[in-house]
Amino acid sequence: MRRTDLMILPVLGLMLAAGGCKNRSGSGSGSGSTGGGSTGGSVTLSFAGPLDAAPSQGDEVAVSWAIATNTANDPPGSMRYSVYRGTKPDMSDEQLVLDRAAQHALLDGGLLDDVTYYYRVVAFDPAGNQSEDTGLVSAHLPRIPLPPIDYGTEVGPLWSTVPARDGKTVCIDCHHDQQPYGFLSLESWERVMIGRGTPEKPDGFIIEGNAKRTGAAFLELYFNEQNPVQAHRAWRFKREFFLPEVANWVDEGALPVPDTTRPSFDFDDLQNRARYSATNNGDGTAYVNFPHARDPESVPIREKLDDHLEYHVYGGPDSASIDFRNPVAVVKRYFFDKESTTYGVRFPWPHETGAFVVRAYDYTGNASLHEREVGF
Ligand code: HEC
Repeated sequence: MRRTDLMILPVLGLMLAAGGCKNRSGSGSGSGSTGGGSTGGSVTLSFAGPLDAAPSQGDEVAVSWAIATNTANDPPGSMRYSVYRGTKPDMSDEQLVLDRAAQHALLDGGLLDDVTYYYRVVAFDPAGNQSEDTGLVSAHLPRIPLPPIDYGTEVGPLWSTVPARDGKTVCIDCHHDQQPYGFLSLESWERVMIGRGTPEKPDGFIIEGNAKRTGAAFLELYFNEQNPVQAHRAWRFKREFFLPEVANWVDEGALPVPDTTRPSFDFDDLQNRARYSATNNGDGTAYVNFPHARDPESVPIREKLDDHLEYHVYGGPDSASIDFRNPVAVVKRYFFDKESTTYGVRFPWPHETGAFVVRAYDYTGNASLHEREVGF
């Protein structure tokens, strides 16, 4: 990833070749646009190296690099590039993924999730002059969560599997959809979520994403010694048949159907420099500002004033060293006011420089893919 624009279109590399800021680690020439070059004769090859690597699909990274030039004035189209990919910053396990091709962007597919990939690029001119170390760019594909729990096949049936003391009565014998509003039905997802309320004013005992409170509410309502419903009191010992399964589903947002769709930041936001920023506060802390992501599939049934997505800020001293396993800051669900356009989070930052990426997570753990890197 890189600190300027995201989402690389093949043409973009060309436009940026003139002098975008490159986030590179490793030795390299360090400053600006001379990758140097071993030369044949007196011709010198200049190459600014890789510009960016960023997730473009769940298993694919888009890599782009600058256009090489040489003192023989060979045309840009005559330059060739080789790309190496590794999973370690020292590139000790690198593999050649593009061999002397006349292109300056690459979609590298078939990759694993939750792995940081590093890329280096070598340029060649028609005479075979070769660029030297121009540093690395890196990208990390978000971890793909386990398949979410399906209410219809894994949770709903529980309401009719545990019989009461009479050996046959199950929950939905009493709690069924034929009962009007004002009586809890456990027969359909809608009614479970509505509870004893109405679609407009749901008051179900299940609270999306919050198994702890849901479990407590459920126990209180169901296993209360004072409960006038005889059947309830009789089943106290059977709570373990329900709670673990229901709890996992509740923590995944208590959704009607499994959600495997990623949250995503708005394309216009990603293009808009003003919507993302990083500041070094100069007092050992940094500040990162970002907009809402969207994920209609996981919006909870009850109207919420705040964003239900969780945001993780990942950082590193430079782009290629961002730690995507341990966020430097987490913005919990329901902290980011829906009315606010951006959220700012402040966190300890011991480095002079910084590169940051924000990812949004829904209840299931699906993470946003397209990102905008910010830094200082
Ligand atoms: C013999 C009929 C009967 C059976 C069987 C039964 N319930 Fe109930 N339940 C009731 C009645 C009646 C109420 C009180 C009316 C209401 O709250 O909807 C109630 C209330 C509840 C409430 C509280 C609802 C609220 O929002 O206040 C919960 C939760 C509940 N039952 C869960 C269950 C579960 C889970 C099962 C199966 C393990 C079950 N019940 C089995 C009759 C039954």
